[in-house]
This record gives sequence, C-alpha cells and structure tokens, in this order.
Amino acid sequence: PTPARPAAAETVPVVDISAGGPTATPIQQAMDLTRAHGPAFRRRLHEHQVLFVSSLDLVTELADETRFAKGISKVLDHVREFAGDGLFTAYNDEPNWAKAHDILMPAFALGSMRTYHPAMLRVARRVIESWDRRAAEGTAADVADDMTRMTLDTIGLAGFGFDFDSFGRATPHPFVEAMVRCLEWSMKRIGRAPGADHTEADREFERDSAYLASVVDEVIASRTESGDTSVDDLLGLMLGARHPGDGTTLDAANIRNQVITFLIAGHETTSGTLSFALYHLLKDPTALRLVQREADELWGDTPDPEPSFEDIGKLRFTRQVLSETLRLWPTAAAFTRQAREDTLLGGRVPLAAGDLVTVLTPMLHRDPAWGDNPELFDPARFTPEAEAARSPHAYKPFGTGERACIGRQFALHEATMLLALLAHRYRFVDADDYRLRIKETLTLKPEGFTLSLVPRTPAD
Ligand code: HEM
Repeated sequence: PTPARPAAAETVPVVDISAGGPTATPIQQAMDLTRAHGPAFRRRLHEHQVLFVSSLDLVTELADETRFAKGISKVLDHVREFAGDGLFTAYNDEPNWAKAHDILMPAFALGSMRTYHPAMLRVARRVIESWDRRAAEGTAADVADDMTRMTLDTIGLAGFGFDFDSFGRATPHPFVEAMVRCLEWSMKRIGRAPGADHTEADREFERDSAYLASVVDEVIASRTESGDTSVDDLLGLMLGARHPGDGTTLDAANIRNQVITFLIAGHETTSGTLSFALYHLLKDPTALRLVQREADELWGDTPDPEPSFEDIGKLRFTRQVLSETLRLWPTAAAFTRQAREDTLLGGRVPLAAGDLVTVLTPMLHRDPAWGDNPELFDPARFTPEAEAARSPHAYKPFGTGERACIGRQFALHEATMLLALLAHRYRFVDADDYRLRIKETLTLKPEGFTLSLVPRTPAD
C-alpha cells in the first residue's frame, strides 16, 4: 500500500515578540520583521498569533474571491465594539452588510462626487484661509492636525450636512480625540500581557465610545428634526432609501453604526494621505514643480481659483503623487483575508477554512515587482503605461474585492483638489529640516510635521 502523504510542512517562520512588550508602532515593527524573516511569517504576541503576508504571488492568491473573503481581524473585532455592524466592520454574512452596501453604493459612484464637490471646495478654502494667516504671521502649520480638520469637516458637510467647524477651534474637535483614543485602544488591546489590570483603559474607552455615539445622535437629530427629506447625501439615503430588492430601509441602530463608521473611515486615512503627500512634495522639488505647473495650467495666476468638478480629473500628475504616496505609506496599512475552505497558500502554507491572513500593504508595495529602488518616491510609477504593465495585485491601498474601500473616489477627489490648490498658492519651506517619523493609531500619519508657507508670486 502507498504510505499516506505527510501533511504539508509549515515553512513559515514564527516570531515571538511577547518579551519586548507591546510597541506603539506595530505596523513599522511588522515591516522590520518582514525585512528580517521574509514576506510570510507568523507573529506571536502572548496567546495571539497573526500570519503576515506581503509578496505579490501570495497576495495575488489572497485576492482570489473564490478562495478568500474579507476577514475580521482581532483588531477589527475590537473596533466593532464602537462601530458594530457598520460597513467596515460587518461580517460578510451579516445581512446588514449587503443591505447597506446596496443602498449606499450609488452615493460613491464617480458621478456622485459632483454632488460633494462644492462642500469639498468650501472646506479647502478653510485650509487656505488658515494657512494664509500663518503665512502672514510667519508661523508654521501643523500639517497632520490641519489635514484632519479638513477631512473631518468635509465628510461631516458632504456626507451629513453637519459642520464640525474644526478651523474655528484652537484644538481638534473632541470627536477626533475620542476617536483616536478608541482606535488606539483597539490596537493596543492586542498587546495586553495576560493577568495585567486594564480597568482604567477600558473605562476610558467606555466613556469615549459613549461620547462618539452622542455626537452621532446629534448629527442624526439635526437632520431628522429639520424634517428635510429632500437631501440625497449619505444620511439622506440611509434615512430614506429603500433597498432595491426587498423595499426595507436601514434600522436606527445600523444607521448609527454607519454614521460612526463613515465619520471615522471617511477622514483619518485621507488626512494621513494628504500629510504624507505634502511631506513628499516638500522633499521632492521636481515633483512639486510638476504639480504647480499642472495647477498653473488650469488656474493661471488667479489667486483664488474656482476649481470645477471637471478640473479635478485633469490633475493627472497630482493624482499620481497621491497614488505614489499611498504606495509608500498606505495609511490603512493592513487588511485581513479569510480562507473560505481548507487550502494551501503558495503551495506551502496550510490553512483551514476560517483561518485569517493579514496583508501588510506597505511591504507588498515594496515587493521586487516595484523595481530596484522601492523606497524611492517616484510618481512616474503611476503613468497609465506603467500601471498597465504591472499586476493589479501589486497595489492595494484600498483593500481588495467586494469589501474594498467604498470611499476611494471620495478620498481621491477631495485630496487631489486640496493638494493642487495648496501647491498652486504656496511655496513650502522646510524650516525645521523635518525627518519623517510615523505615528500609528491604527492608521499612519507623519508625526510632528510642520510646514512653513510663503505665498507664491508669478515668478515662482
Ligand atoms: C474600506 C482604505 C478613504 C469608507 C477600506 C479598506 C481599506 C480602506 C484598505 C478595506 C479594509 C478591509 O479590507 O478590511 C482607505 C484609504 C482611504 C480611505 C487608504 C483614503 C486615502 C475612505 C473614505 C471613506 C471610506 C473617504 C468614506 C467616505 C470605507 C468603508 C469601508 C472602507 C465604508 C468598508 C467597505 C465595506 O467593507 O463594504 N478603506 N479608505 N474610506 N472604506 Fe476606506
């Protein structure tokens, strides 16, 4: 008789990081572990283990929707404690996912950006007003703070008709601080040593998540009390639209979860992206010149241009700058896939049905498929020709498949317009010779990045 075939040998290194204690920068640590141990390894932290993967061949398999679906990682399970069955954190088989997805999809089609364009421009002008003041006073702008003000106000106004008025405040809106603490709590809970006392952290989380819910209730009440059912923004759709299939609407608890999800997903990542993009433009005068030239071609010397919806599509190079920024620093830096059935990943890693695999996007974006100098910022990687020549699975800043980011066009429209307007109006001065440090609060952001501004003159 032929002997039974041995089970496939596990060839993935296991790296136990429990002894070092939790780190404030788990993504950067996982990037270092990838550099040391290769593009597939298991990270063990106390009782918890994560299989990280980042090579193009393995991610290509993971993107196959017949073999894998979105997985809810341990961290996302923690986020569920304040975002519930909102789109981002819903399980694939939760009926509210498909229902909300079907109702909200039309609101995120490219054409819908025309509806949001005026609100985006209105908030872009708030940044300019604030930066003009800084230029006049000679003070530097805290880039990440201001980009967060901008993206929060934009999703608030465009999505919900609610004004957070972040530029009217000296410090960020308390919603942002509570949200950041909730995200940090979700991230740090992974690294908890068994037996330690976390009562205080958990109490603070309860306070913060209750506060987030109260802000959301205020956002919803300000619409329902106005009695206005004519607005077809995200909130209007959720309150009024019936599912094309069964004619039902979303229930109140789910609407609350969706609003919280959109307020969070809709601003943190876009704000980080803009901050990194400004950093790269500051350090790459050639790219900055090209962005300025593109904006000048559209808007000339007009100090206060009125960008049209169509203008944004013409800002091709500016868009390439954002794409390249998201290659080096995909601000939502990991996403998780779940095996639909027992399978062998890459012919060598046995997975049982339900097992989770986490894609470490910044390292996928440094795969050899990107050439010899993957650390080099080079927007030419995103010309249409270069994109056509590359596997679509080499680039996943917005995730993959049917659970990929619904807000991609929203983020890119908003970010392209602001970046071009800022480059059109200011010279960026690196007064502090800034060195990149990255803060992690589930998403990535440059830390302590300030920018000095000088109005451009026609000669610049
Ligand atoms: C999902 C990234 C902006 C709303 C995702 C996912 C990624 C991502 C990687 C997939 C997560 C997973 O597989 O677990 C980004 C980045 C953004 C951005 C890098 C900015 C540059 C936005 C904006 C919105 C938004 C502006 C809303 C206005 C969502 C939602 C989901 C999602 C609702 C869940 C979709 C679903 O599962 O049905 N995003 N996002 N995102 N994003 Fe974004």
